[in-house]
Amino acid sequence: MYNSKITGLGKYLPDNVVTNDDLSKMMDTNDEWIQERTGIKERRWIKEDGEDTSALMGAKAAKIAIERAGLTKDDIDFIVFATMTPDYYFPGCGVQIQDLLEMGTIGAIDIRNQCSGFVYALSVADQFVKTGMYKNVLVVGAEYHSNGLDKTTRGRGVTVIFGDGAGAAVLSREENNSKGILSTHLHSEGKYAEKLVVKSPSIAHWVPEILASNGEDISYFPYMDGTFVFKHAVVRFSEVIMEGLLKNNLTKDDIDLFIPHQANLRISQFVQRKFSLRDDQIFNNIMKYGNTTAASIIIALTEAWEQDKIKDGDTVVLAAFGSGFTWGSVIMKW
Ligand code: ACO
Repeated sequence: MYNSKITGLGKYLPDNVVTNDDLSKMMDTNDEWIQERTGIKERRWIKEDGEDTSALMGAKAAKIAIERAGLTKDDIDFIVFATMTPDYYFPGCGVQIQDLLEMGTIGAIDIRNQCSGFVYALSVADQFVKTGMYKNVLVVGAEYHSNGLDKTTRGRGVTVIFGDGAGAAVLSREENNSKGILSTHLHSEGKYAEKLVVKSPSIAHWVPEILASNGEDISYFPYMDGTFVFKHAVVRFSEVIMEGLLKNNLTKDDIDLFIPHQANLRISQFVQRKFSLRDDQIFNNIMKYGNTTAASIIIALTEAWEQDKIKDGDTVVLAAFGSGFTWGSVIMKW
């Protein structure tokens, strides 16, 4: 058995910055409310006439990650793409990346695990590398939320939180078993699926039924029971971090950098307090990008690395919680 190690990181954010004040021109909201409840100051939204999509943004981030790994597209053996906002209902974005990057006919899968998407994707890729089946796996997280949000006062409790963007990592074979991904931990609790959900269009509730409702049926917009999600998130984040630390005989003091899924700054701060982490042990960038779901951890990891916040030998912990409910963690030795 091998270990797997991140050898290249990349991110791509659309240029278009949307501030809280911009949102207050679309709906009844304000900068103070948004910052106080979520920590978000601004997010990136693809312009309405913009060309970017989840697959395109993912491809841009992937190119950077592959180059930084010192590899070419032809060195990549497999693609794992995490998104809840794919370009098509089917096929998934993984195959689009294969085409956009003009790769050979390597395999590609999509992961549909929302905010936990990147943690799940990394875990799937890790298994392929560990067993020796693949040497270099491209793991991408990308979301194009802005086109699917309710930009009226009706949707303000959800819409102000989400942003667009993408990140990518190359996961490569590592012969040294004490380096790279040490363990991953994945969980789900489907009884809460409807607490954070986009219900339609689904095969059970297809487009003609939505159109027939003459605007009454808004089940194609995200629904979130925010308070319920918050309460579960803080508990599950803490549990799954602890699970990862215990598995590797580590304590919170061993954490050099913790990168939480950027759900809400208040959730990250709660977890930081719970584990008594110093400010330099945690990295947040939700203030600039909002919650980019499956892209949030990989954008944050890339940005932290770009800012020299991760050194060789560091213990890096990733954790996520989100729709499903699903949650998970990754413990890495950099
Ligand atoms: N601007 C102004 N007022 C607003 C807005 C807004 N954008 N959204 C809601 N309000 C109003 C509500 O209408 C309500 O008004 P009322 O009291 O007159 O009825 C009031 O603010 C309070 O609304 P709540 O929904 O109770 O606000 P809450 O304090 O719970 O904050 C929030 C909402 C920020 C979503 C919070 O529940 C939360 O942080 N939840 C965690 C969920 C989360 O972060 N999800 C991220 C995505 S999921 C994930 O990544 C895990």
